[in-house]
Amino acid sequence: MDGNTIRETFLRFFAERGHRRVPSSSLIPPPESGLLLANAGMNQFIPYFLGQAEPPYARATSAQKCFRANDIENVGHTARHMTFFEMLGNFSFGDYFKAEAIAWAYELITEGYGIDPERLWATVYREDDEAERAWVDGVGFPIERIVRRDRFDPQGESLNYWWTHAAGPAGPDSEIFVDRGPKYGPEGGPDVDEERFVEIWNLVFMQEEVDGDANIIHPLPSKNIDTGSGLERVATVLQDVDNAFETDLFRPLLEVAESLSGRSHGVDASTDVSLKVVAEHARATTFLIADGVQPSNEGRGYILRRMLRRVVSHARRLGIEGGVLHPLIAVVVAQMGEAYPELVENRAYIESVAEAEEERFGGTLRQGMALFEDAAGSLEQGGRFPGETAFRLHDTHGVPLELTSELAQERGLDVDVDTFQELLEDQRRRAKEAVKRQDMTGDALGEAVARMSGQEFVGYQRLDADTTIGGLIGPDGLLDVAPEGTQVRVLLPVTPFYAEGGGQIGDRGEIRTAGGRVRVTDTQPGPGGVHVHSGIVESGEVRMGDEALAEVDREAREATARSHTATHVVHWTLRHLLGDHARQAGSLVAPGRLRFDFSHHSPLGRDRLEEAEYTANSKLADDDAVRAYETTMDYARSQGATALFGEKYGDIVRVVEIGDYSRELCGGTHVPHTGRVAVVRVLHEASIGSGMRRIEALVGPDALRQINAEHRLLEEVAQALGAGDADQAPERARRAVDRIKQLESELGKLRRGDRAAVVDGLAAKAEPVGGATLLVSAVPGEDVNGVRELALVLRDGMERQGPAAVVLGTADDGAKLVAALTTSLVERGVTAKALLEPAARAIGGGAGGGKPHLAIAGGRNADALDQALGTVPARLAELLGASS
Ligand code: SER
Repeated sequence: MDGNTIRETFLRFFAERGHRRVPSSSLIPPPESGLLLANAGMNQFIPYFLGQAEPPYARATSAQKCFRANDIENVGHTARHMTFFEMLGNFSFGDYFKAEAIAWAYELITEGYGIDPERLWATVYREDDEAERAWVDGVGFPIERIVRRDRFDPQGESLNYWWTHAAGPAGPDSEIFVDRGPKYGPEGGPDVDEERFVEIWNLVFMQEEVDGDANIIHPLPSKNIDTGSGLERVATVLQDVDNAFETDLFRPLLEVAESLSGRSHGVDASTDVSLKVVAEHARATTFLIADGVQPSNEGRGYILRRMLRRVVSHARRLGIEGGVLHPLIAVVVAQMGEAYPELVENRAYIESVAEAEEERFGGTLRQGMALFEDAAGSLEQGGRFPGETAFRLHDTHGVPLELTSELAQERGLDVDVDTFQELLEDQRRRAKEAVKRQDMTGDALGEAVARMSGQEFVGYQRLDADTTIGGLIGPDGLLDVAPEGTQVRVLLPVTPFYAEGGGQIGDRGEIRTAGGRVRVTDTQPGPGGVHVHSGIVESGEVRMGDEALAEVDREAREATARSHTATHVVHWTLRHLLGDHARQAGSLVAPGRLRFDFSHHSPLGRDRLEEAEYTANSKLADDDAVRAYETTMDYARSQGATALFGEKYGDIVRVVEIGDYSRELCGGTHVPHTGRVAVVRVLHEASIGSGMRRIEALVGPDALRQINAEHRLLEEVAQALGAGDADQAPERARRAVDRIKQLESELGKLRRGDRAAVVDGLAAKAEPVGGATLLVSAVPGEDVNGVRELALVLRDGMERQGPAAVVLGTADDGAKLVAALTTSLVERGVTAKALLEPAARAIGGGAGGGKPHLAIAGGRNADALDQALGTVPARLAELLGASS
């Protein structure tokens, strides 16, 4: 059975048993989950298990895109590690429980997949008699092959208990294993050997809520089922291969990597590692980009960037010179596009993001290689390559340690891995601490949210609301009273304040009680999506339970609504003019201004930009109605609604529709008619890297203010140029520039005459030293750039005479020395840096970096310049003697 058939068999099996087929949620989880990336099939159902939301169906089944980022470095080195995988699951929300879950799993495995029942083993939680009975009495499973285990092992790792590793739903579980036969290990079941006995399915009996340390707090409102079965594992077993990389899920990717590199898998270990990294990461990154992750230096973006860079550097190791991502993405889309249509829909976008990063990293990699050369160049054979440099290569240039080690080895060097590891650990520790600190302040908020049962958002209809103070959090935790001057976060059971989301910034305004007033400066979504109002108690005091009037700043909200509607019109315009690949990748919607990021490969240019601005404004002038309504996701899609990345696809979605042309899933606030926007004025358009462009624009009155400011500027320029009329300004400016150019060229001629005389004068000073020619001189009055230029001109002039060096010095901000060498001299083993060493010491400095052909040294001791230059001839003789 190939991967697609297994997935389909699983989903169909459960659909036939009354389960709703629910699409995978995005790899980007909602912020309140506290997760970086989706890591289990149950993620999207957490509110149903906790009883926070009413499930629209009692049974569900899904194939979920999952990502576990902890072992990126291990990928390729082991048969088993993978970052992206698919988890097949069936779920019951207070409907069926252990008996059915076990019976169905057994039926699917033995009849659906056709695995011999004799090969199966099961584990259950030590005290779970009910699960054991379901196995033995329910399906006739032999008790000898049921292992009872604790919830956790002595190190605290889960055995027969599953939780999300954060506060949330949890429960005991029963795991199902398949015996792969004696060739993989000894007899004795999963407790003896997990290579031979592989886990293919975990049935979790979700029945309690745990805190962040897995302590049980209380039972869940109902008994639920959450199962998870890794598709790659099932495929490994059913296709009877050694590991996932040999299944049909990975083979085609490996084959592309093989054919691009002309190497084969299974010949040598280091090639295998690179082939696997390329295959695994290409698949994972394709999915990450499809869900809207963009390469960056933090969070998920950093994971993506690291993985893309690993693909590229491993491809280089395999000798692949050209682009490697494009052909791999094509394979992933062909193979998985049917199950995950977002891959097909976003294909052009995925390619442009991946290729832009590939190109950019190509440059970084070259820089990294130069850094490596520099550091390695000064080391002796058998020397130690510094761990700090290896870490910098890894951290700043994305060159993996394994690549550095390999390059070092080729030169007989040995990388100081201990220091590298220490630095890496330090960095990880710092990252973890940052997360922990965030958790601590998060706790008080979580508690406040839990105490207030629910919240109603009325901000689509009204800008004020009568409400009460439902939660008060100060800088150090929960408060009963917040006196004047306190920085607070306030929860309200009814609120008109929009919480930041979908690019639109959070509302500001005021909360007034009989005793005091809070100035709200921002509203953010908190746990469970509750709106959290942040601000300061401006006067009096505010108490828990006080009656309150919550009032949004009308002017700011109106200006934001104009910007939001304008953003949709701009989005439509860009797609209309540039094509469907011009997808929204992010936006900022603020009062009077907007920022819009979209995928496109090249600059728009002035004409295109003006055309876009004109089209958008004409659309606005049509004064179409802006309507918002809720509907099912399926209906919205069938109407061609464009969905934003990272949006959670619940069953019911909000659609914002403008006229009959623009439809977007959107939770934001808008003006009722486009005419209210009045005008959008595009300020500029620029690249933000990775095939991504950004437009910034002003909206409504702010746009008019900008137009006026531009006008005024033009008038001032005209005045400065002495043009009576702004119309004449460009012509005047052109003439002025031409005149400047002409004068510059005349000046240059005069200067060059002088320069040529200087060069001739200096060249005459060259003298033979140990079979080479050496020119040493001070050049007073030149700055370091001038000296460098002179040295290069002189060196080039001497290139034909054989091995030669030019060393010039000047007193410029202390003393500066420049050495330039001909290639033939470098070939004789002399480097510019070595030549300068004694001289650099004399001026009290060090020869910094530099290349073999050119080095610059600086020191504070300008008085010693002549003495420093005096060391050069002997040094050159010494170096030539040493090398010959
Ligand atoms: N939540 C469990 C897991 O991820 C079963 O779906 O393994």
